[in-house]
Amino acid sequence: MLEVQDLVVRYGSAVALDGVSLVVHEGEMVALVGPNGAGKTTLVKAISRMLPVAGGSIRLGGSVAQVPEGRQLFGDMSVEDNLRLGGWASGRRDPAPIYDLFPKLRDLRRRDAWTLSGGEQQMVAVGRALMAEPRLLAVDELSLGLAPLVVEDLARHLVELNRSRGMAVLLIEQNARLALDICERGYVLEAGRVALSGSCAELRQNQAVQHSYLGGTVA
Ligand SMILES: Nc1ncnc2c1ncn2[C@@H]1O[C@H](COP(=O)(O)OP(=O)(O)OP(=O)(O)O)[C@@H](O)[C@H]1O
Ligand SMILES: [Mg+2]
Repeated sequence: MLEVQDLVVRYGSAVALDGVSLVVHEGEMVALVGPNGAGKTTLVKAISRMLPVAGGSIRLGGSVAQVPEGRQLFGDMSVEDNLRLGGWASGRRDPAPIYDLFPKLRDLRRRDAWTLSGGEQQMVAVGRALMAEPRLLAVDELSLGLAPLVVEDLARHLVELNRSRGMAVLLIEQNARLALDICERGYVLEAGRVALSGSCAELRQNQAVQHSYLGGTVA
């Protein structure tokens, strides 16, 4: 579904990704964790072709959509218009499937996006990405600024979409515990390089991962 090989991305002379290799197989959920500034958002932007690549390659075996960091909704547009934008390129105009998935959004559909709570906005951001019916969904910081229960609910939806539609998910999450719980494999990105990778079960048991990302406790 996605094969990133020896990827190098620079901002001017600063190297943000320094030879990153990563794979997401068809229908797989893959976690990407790492500290602030590691290059996670840069990787998602490169995969979405929003940034030029200075070296290496990105191969996609199907369509990709992203839930961008900070959601990036159009605040003075309605919920429904924000959703429609997500389907614009692929010609999918009907938001009804998104309302079936997130019934709350049906009630909110005429509201300007800026008036929504953070959790509601994240639902719109996820819904907007799903409008394109991507084969790979890249989620940059699902939990940013959200209450744990809201995050759990959104995470449950992602798992359900992965199981029911076989949609692959690349999940970037500061909450490493959550990411490593719901994904099958994971990568730890540090300073623009893959520091560790493996099954999430392995990563949860890894001492360095426990120390840096899981609060030092045994998972
Ligand atoms: N537009 C830009 N111009 C210059 N440097 C940038 C730009 N965007 C990001 N960077 C730098 O690239 C590095 C990687 O940033 P990136 O946003 O990818 O990190 P991240 O892992 O997503 O961090 P966070 O967890 O804080 O979101 C950082 O050092 C950052 O300062
Ligand atoms: Mg980021």
